[in-house]
Amino acid sequence: MNSERGRNLLAAAAGLTALVAIVSFVAVVVLAASGRTATDYQGYNLSRPWFDGIAWDWFLDMFNQPSVKPQEVGTFQAFPDNSVPRTGREAFIPPTAMMDGRLQRDVQPLNPQPATPESLVEGRVLFETYCGPCHGLNGEGGTPVVLKGMPAPPVQPLLGFLSEPHLYNKILYGGPIMPAYGYQTTQAERWHMVNYMKSAKFGKGGSP
Ligand code: HEC
Repeated sequence: MNSERGRNLLAAAAGLTALVAIVSFVAVVVLAASGRTATDYQGYNLSRPWFDGIAWDWFLDMFNQPSVKPQEVGTFQAFPDNSVPRTGREAFIPPTAMMDGRLQRDVQPLNPQPATPESLVEGRVLFETYCGPCHGLNGEGGTPVVLKGMPAPPVQPLLGFLSEPHLYNKILYGGPIMPAYGYQTTQAERWHMVNYMKSAKFGKGGSP
């Protein structure tokens, strides 16, 4: 008797809930349809913004900035001023990426910095700062750090064989043991070091 009454109550409650849901859905649809005015591309009502009904000036500032709007015609090649970064940054070349059967890091990127005397001086100072402690100022290894167990090889005999992009990426990414110097150095500084390592002045000492 009791359980039957409970079941009846439960059924009534479920019916009522379904009814309320249907009525509110219909109400929302009817209200939405009747209130249709100018909307933006996402369907927001522009004359009565959705949160407090007041059309604040700044409400659409984020939308109304220089940018290519969805579906806008004729903007694909002509981006509005200041809407797209144009100086950019160097492309990320994953250390193991292949290109034409070779490691891409042995082929790219290409050195944009001519090996001017200034570049070689700059490169020498940077090499002696960042690389010298392990590889030696003249690239012949045997530094105190190596004697303590860091297996940094003499790089002097390798520099003739290693490509400029390889050396650049070696600084940028480091190696299995060698630390990366990408964060400490700028793009230009890395090319200065490459120029110095590839020059006849490398490891000759004397005043820079
Ligand atoms: C903390 C010690 C350390 C410092 C500093 C260091 N290296 Fe190395 N380097 C190593 C070790 C260890 C290896 C061999 C294993 C490896 O590649 O990780 C190596 C290998 C190399 C090689 C030969 C291997 C290859 O893949 O070409 C080059 C070239 C090289 N380093 C260049 C540099 C340059 C340029 C700098 C300065 C930006 C530098 N290293 C700074 C430890 C160091």
